[in-house]
Amino acid sequence: MKILMVYGSPDGEGNSRKLANSVIDGLKSENAEVEEISIYDYNITDVWPNYFGDALQNKFEKAGDDDMPKLKDKMIAADVIVLVSPVYWYQLGGKMKTFVDRWSDTINPDFSSDLKGKGLALVSTHSGMNVMNSSNYLQLAMEATARFMGMVWMGGAEAPVPMPISSGPVDGHYDIAKDFGQKLARGENLIGQKIL
Ligand SMILES: Cc1cc2nc3c(=O)[nH]c(=O)nc-3n(C[C@H](O)[C@H](O)[C@H](O)COP(=O)(O)O)c2cc1C
Repeated sequence: MKILMVYGSPDGEGNSRKLANSVIDGLKSENAEVEEISIYDYNITDVWPNYFGDALQNKFEKAGDDDMPKLKDKMIAADVIVLVSPVYWYQLGGKMKTFVDRWSDTINPDFSSDLKGKGLALVSTHSGMNVMNSSNYLQLAMEATARFMGMVWMGGAEAPVPMPISSGPVDGHYDIAKDFGQKLARGENLIGQKIL
């Protein structure tokens, strides 16, 4: 199984990366082929007026010479795309969100997507101050995105972070993340159903 891990935190050694490392442990223990990239290393043009209309006609001149074609090739080469992101205001971080905004680049005139059939998974960390459960909102948004794109939703691993009024992560969060990595490598979703 080929897995593309896309990191979306400005902190390359932060909470999200730490949780993702457990997913990587699981993936590698099952011999998955893993490519890791940080979205901060890529130049992605924001969407423009009538972007979606242009995208449906595969017209991307207004994107200039950005890195989206490279990123699209990487996604197409993968079986599973894993987005690794802190929760920022109940959503993906800004750079990662711009990247996902541009996923319409993969949609064709008949609304089919070049990402059809690929797995999508999310690894997210959040404050753990559960006034509202931030990670759940983000997972719902990404599951809906997967469905729109004809992708297969594999599930999400999440953990709260150590803060004065947060419970912080426990070993179980990292164990679940490692187990999730093993399952992804076998084409299974978070609850072990073989779907790829
Ligand atoms: C701009 C910003 C917005 C945030 N919004 C939320 C939020 O809506 N819900 C939440 O639980 N945590 C929120 N947080 C906390 C982060 O999700 C948390 O600290 C995360 O673990 C940071 O990940 P990192 O260390 O990988 O960068 C926010 C943090 C920042 C900087």
